[in-house]
Amino acid sequence: MLSLTLTGLKLKNPLMLAAGIMGTTCGSLKRIAERGAGAVVTKSIGLEPKGGHSNPSMVEVDCGYLNAMGLPNPSYKNFQGEIDIAKESRVPVIASIFGGCSLDFAEIAGALRADAFELNVSCPHAHGFGAEIGTDPELVEDITRTVKRAADVPVWVKLTPNVTNIKDIGLAAESGGADAVVAINTVRGMAIDIESGYPVLGNKFGGLSGRAIKPVAIKCVYDLYEALDIPVIGVGGISDYRDVIEFMMAGAQAVEIGSAVGNNINIFNDISSCMESFMEEKEWTLEDIHGMAHRE
Ligand code: SIN
Repeated sequence: MLSLTLTGLKLKNPLMLAAGIMGTTCGSLKRIAERGAGAVVTKSIGLEPKGGHSNPSMVEVDCGYLNAMGLPNPSYKNFQGEIDIAKESRVPVIASIFGGCSLDFAEIAGALRADAFELNVSCPHAHGFGAEIGTDPELVEDITRTVKRAADVPVWVKLTPNVTNIKDIGLAAESGGADAVVAINTVRGMAIDIESGYPVLGNKFGGLSGRAIKPVAIKCVYDLYEALDIPVIGVGGISDYRDVIEFMMAGAQAVEIGSAVGNNINIFNDISSCMESFMEEKEWTLEDIHGMAHRE
């Protein structure tokens, strides 16, 4: 009842692990896959090993989490083994990749073997990477086109909400040949410790995830669904089946779940069974709810 084909990939359900959460080792990717995820997305992987920003790099705030990890990763040259072992769990493994220019992205996409690539042009706090690229439609189009030439698997582009009009960036990705867009990455944010007067995060500012950003993400998905012909994948603040249904009604064909996995590792199985009961009761299929909120 929940199975679907997304950009050519067969998924048993539309619930995927979002990049950045439990996605650095094959062990954690497999754990999530074995607990009901339809697909898993790795931590963002770059050209060279990278240590990331200084600590604290993730803090809980009253409405979610602020992180400024700084894209720490072992480099694509040391990551193929993790993907290969994660694939034993028989769900698609999507490699999130980042770079500073189209050539960086192309080198990684040409070498790494995964079921699809998710281009991180949206991290809000990494100098020279992420949203510094992903706020420029021309760069997004160029990078997407270059990766499409280098890769023989679907290419998804993860968008930043920290722009005036996310549709322009989505359209640029689509023009570059993207197979799907993923909306949204974290919302730029900051917290200050009032005892010391210093910013809490080592990087001073970071990206907000969790429940607070769900309405922002829903609006982005809604707008992208209207503007684009390619699938939209929703992410941002999902913690139960109602959130998933809402994202799909806004126009998401599938969703990714991030912050909430930290509180409940069984969230994928839990959401699948609640979704099935809800849809059975309503006599709705995934096709019925996809974009439902756009009806006149
Ligand atoms: C990070 O590793 O800094 C987070 C990645 C992201 O926000 O895209």
